[in-house]
Amino acid sequence: MKITYYGHSCLGIEINDIHIIVDPFISGNPKAASIDVDSLKADYIMLTHAHYDHVLDVERIIKRTNATIISNHEIVTYYGNKDFKGHGMNHGGSWKFDFGTVKAVSAIHSSSFSDGTYGGNPMGFIIQANGKTVYLAGDTALTMDMKLIPMFHKLDLAILPVGGNFTMDIEEAVVAAAFIECDNIMGVHFDSFEMIEIDHEKSKQIFKNKNKTLNLLGIGEHLTV
Ligand code: NI
Ligand code: MN
Repeated sequence: MKITYYGHSCLGIEINDIHIIVDPFISGNPKAASIDVDSLKADYIMLTHAHYDHVLDVERIIKRTNATIISNHEIVTYYGNKDFKGHGMNHGGSWKFDFGTVKAVSAIHSSSFSDGTYGGNPMGFIIQANGKTVYLAGDTALTMDMKLIPMFHKLDLAILPVGGNFTMDIEEAVVAAAFIECDNIMGVHFDSFEMIEIDHEKSKQIFKNKNKTLNLLGIGEHLTV
């Protein structure tokens, strides 16, 4: 799995020749100005919840690519009413897609569209493909539910929000990493707004002190698992 960072919580995941975009928020993020939304490949768009900083570019990308949305039932229904394809899931459920298996897990947050439409329950995803397992937490607080994950999955990478205010912060993300029994963490949901700015070196050191790695990718950079 090749994972490219497009800023905020937006990712490109490439598995074999299949392209997944997670939580597209590029055109509204000045920090991601180097990324051209209209050149990104997408077979699927995975959405953790309906907040604008996770769905802003969904329609723009789908109109060009005809990608399939993977999200909760309410979000898939919302976009279904606009004639967009989708696969609805809910917490605890797994589904085998052509790129691998996705399990929907709980996240402690909220979820509504900018127009006030209810956006279902926020969720995280566990993606298994090519013998690797990645946990994508979505926007979430630290939660005891995370302890359930290593009972079923051995994670190769976890993508956790670290910016605070709207989600857990660095100090709590380290505890989350312990709960999920994963030493390889990629941070998201930081630096996009003043309220979620973090000190990169200090943050990495906090993880290092617990013998864990915090990857803070620059926008456009990628890592592979
Ligand atoms: Ni949110
Ligand atoms: Mn958010």
